Amino acid sequence: MKVLLDADTIQARVRELAVEIERDYPPGEEIHLVCVLKGGFIFMADLVRAMTPRVSLDFIAVSSYAKSTKSSGEVRMLKDLDSGLQGRHIVIVEDIVDTGLTLIYLQDILRARAPKTLRTACLLSKPSRRQVDVAVEYIGFTIEDRFVVGYGLDYAEKYRNLSHIAVLNEE
Ligand code: IMP
Ligand code: MG
Repeated sequence: MKVLLDADTIQARVRELAVEIERDYPPGEEIHLVCVLKGGFIFMADLVRAMTPRVSLDFIAVSSYAKSTKSSGEVRMLKDLDSGLQGRHIVIVEDIVDTGLTLIYLQDILRARAPKTLRTACLLSKPSRRQVDVAVEYIGFTIEDRFVVGYGLDYAEKYRNLSHIAVLNEE
């Protein structure tokens, strides 16, 4: 598999994002990160370790039907958050924004829980695939329309453990 982003490049960018995110919130106020399982888990782990102790975190899991046959944007909740979001600064932490359908759905249901602010951080973005106009305030890398694995991203639940991001062989 061809390496698209090596581990050092990812680490450096994640540290930059951590600084950028913290700078955008008033000093001392809690930032609550919501990791979208499973793909976001490694990005989340590195991101929070580059941030200060005002960070708290939670996990949510959804299954997207968008990839199967129809791009309906229909999404099923597999695991909900442990705590409420009311009045809190929320940052959704996701591996990749592709069509944007999963994120739009997530943003809608989380916004309904009345957070003080709601922003989104995605390690990767494939803008050429976008089907909906979804706001993503923090993007690690913009990539072309290739199927990538590693650093949390999988193909049939494999390759999530790679420290780098690779393009899956297409043969
Ligand atoms: P969206 O709803 O089309 O934006 O899909 C987002 C989800 O599809 C991501 O959270 C990933 O789980 C998955 N996905 C999209 N592109 C890729 C890829 O290139 N590799 C692995 N998973 C991907
Ligand atoms: Mg995902």
